[in-house]
Amino acid sequence: MTNTNPILILGAQGLIGSALMEVLADKNPIGLDMPECDVTRPDQVNETFKRFQGGVVINATGYTNVDGCESARDEAEKLNSEAPGMLARAAREHGALLVHLSTDFIFDGTLDRPYREDDSPNPLSVYGRTKLAGEEAVRSEAGDWLIVRTAWVFGHQGHDFIRTMIKLAQDRKDLRVVNDQTGCPTYSLDISQGLTKLIEADARGTFHLVNSGQTTWFNLARCALDMAGFEEVPIKPVTTQEFARPAVRPFCSVLDITKYRKLTGDTPRSWDKALKAALEREGYMEKTNQTV
Ligand SMILES: NC(=O)c1ccc[n+]([C@@H]2O[C@H](COP(=O)([O-])OP(=O)(O)OC[C@H]3O[C@@H](n4cnc5c(N)ncnc54)[C@H](OP(=O)(O)O)[C@@H]3O)[C@@H](O)[C@H]2O)c1
Repeated sequence: MTNTNPILILGAQGLIGSALMEVLADKNPIGLDMPECDVTRPDQVNETFKRFQGGVVINATGYTNVDGCESARDEAEKLNSEAPGMLARAAREHGALLVHLSTDFIFDGTLDRPYREDDSPNPLSVYGRTKLAGEEAVRSEAGDWLIVRTAWVFGHQGHDFIRTMIKLAQDRKDLRVVNDQTGCPTYSLDISQGLTKLIEADARGTFHLVNSGQTTWFNLARCALDMAGFEEVPIKPVTTQEFARPAVRPFCSVLDITKYRKLTGDTPRSWDKALKAALEREGYMEKTNQTV
């Protein structure tokens, strides 16, 4: 990526898109969302790619409400499966690199070691299935593409698990969090920096990119509340069975980032250091009554 390559971020106001806009700010990225570019509309996608001939297009859009996908299959398919294929086709036709974001939820979470890029997917939910179909659509266009799978993202814009936990703690709501699902919490700014490193290293193909380490949702919530000054707010650890949700989640979807580390020489900081940095930036490191 040179300073002359135009960079386009689709879904620029989302959790990851907004972090990408910030991290890539010195490269003057263009950020688009709806209604400027609806990625499910071929006319708008083609018009947009014409303007970004030879550039780097990062697709940070998605139907990301995991439980919501179960009752909105058609919309999830359009955005998570069909749109990526359309973007990959347009990228090929206009000589652009498509960088596409995917998820640990394409795996079933039954492997006894961290998932590598070439491990067999077996999604358990509509979200996971539609995201996997999106990856396959990107690959089948055989253009210039890079797929980056990440997981359990927290950041500064939009909805995320940490923000939800702090809000519930502030409202002194009864907190119950599952303690038998393990994954890799990841900071949106760290993904954005890692993704930039991959692009600069001319990476192509599929990569896993998460903060180092692994934990459960319960431990993540406990750490966040302790760091943010809500040590006295109790959280009850529960099992997946006790906390029924519409979408089935993998029990252990830890991602192996060896391929990323080998190519870039970078090891992302641990998830708890990243969490501390995120909370510090939000002003939560001291006890506060600030609203989320
Ligand atoms: N968050 C995670 O934990 C996580 C984990 C792994 C992978 N990912 C993947 O990373 C990507 C970004 O996730 P995120 O959490 O940043 O998502 P997000 O916060 O939900 O943001 C998605 C963005 O896409 C926009 N968008 C929705 N429909 C669109 C359309 N038809 N055309 C153009 N833009 C549209 C949204 O705008 P509106 O807000 O106006 O709808 C929003 O700005 C997704 O592909 C997701 O699957 C996320």
